[in-house]
Amino acid sequence: MENKYVIFDTHAHYDSDVFDEDRIEVLKEIQKNGVTFVLNCASDYASIEKTNKLTKEYDFIYGALGIHPSDANDFNDKVKSEIIKYVKSNKKILAIGEIGLDYYWEENPLREVQQDVFRSQMNLAKKLNLPVVIHDRDAHADTLEIMKEFPTVKGIVHCFSGSVEFSRECVKLGYYIGVTGVVTFKNAKKIVDVVKDVPLDRLLVETDSPYMAPVPNRGKRNKSDYISQIIEQIAQIKQISSKEVNMAVNGNFERLIGRKI
Ligand code: NI
Repeated sequence: MENKYVIFDTHAHYDSDVFDEDRIEVLKEIQKNGVTFVLNCASDYASIEKTNKLTKEYDFIYGALGIHPSDANDFNDKVKSEIIKYVKSNKKILAIGEIGLDYYWEENPLREVQQDVFRSQMNLAKKLNLPVVIHDRDAHADTLEIMKEFPTVKGIVHCFSGSVEFSRECVKLGYYIGVTGVVTFKNAKKIVDVVKDVPLDRLLVETDSPYMAPVPNRGKRNKSDYISQIIEQIAQIKQISSKEVNMAVNGNFERLIGRKI
């Protein structure tokens, strides 16, 4: 059977050890099911090298390199120069990420540390002229403030969880809104309102695999072909065809990175 969609997953973590048992099979399966592009996003120090390696092993896997706010203590000058080295030697590294602020977990690094590391990596993106993948959990105001300090940097606000007003601010700054499986959850209200309001040419779809699996696979290990459920949900919210959503989000990502996949 021909695949219904050409799927780009703009945020996944296939370096995660939950795929250690069957990574090869999962990646083969999602390709068979129409996934033609994955942006694997690094999070901690070890995942930077793992992500770089995955981009070498698989044609359809590309990478974003950076340190997640929960691992902000991992960031230092040595890590920074490693990221620069990979960016300069590997054309498949497309972005700096995931970076940002996460005030949800009490055990996370101090807010000041997270903010410093976020600023350093925004600066790195600016210097390397690359887009960023931003993680923002319970830190909307501070995230926006730092985004505004770097007006030439563009990117994705991944797994968007803010209000309609916040999404408008992000779009105004030239950012794209990353929509995960949360939009398919029965109690989803905020993200549904955001999807309704944000112009189609500003939306992206992503799994955040292995997390955030959409209905009907909620709670399971997520994988990129499940994005079809997100595409169909956006189509329903926006009252347009799912084909149109699929083509628009893929075009949006290519516009962000300035090249065809
Ligand atoms: Ni993520």
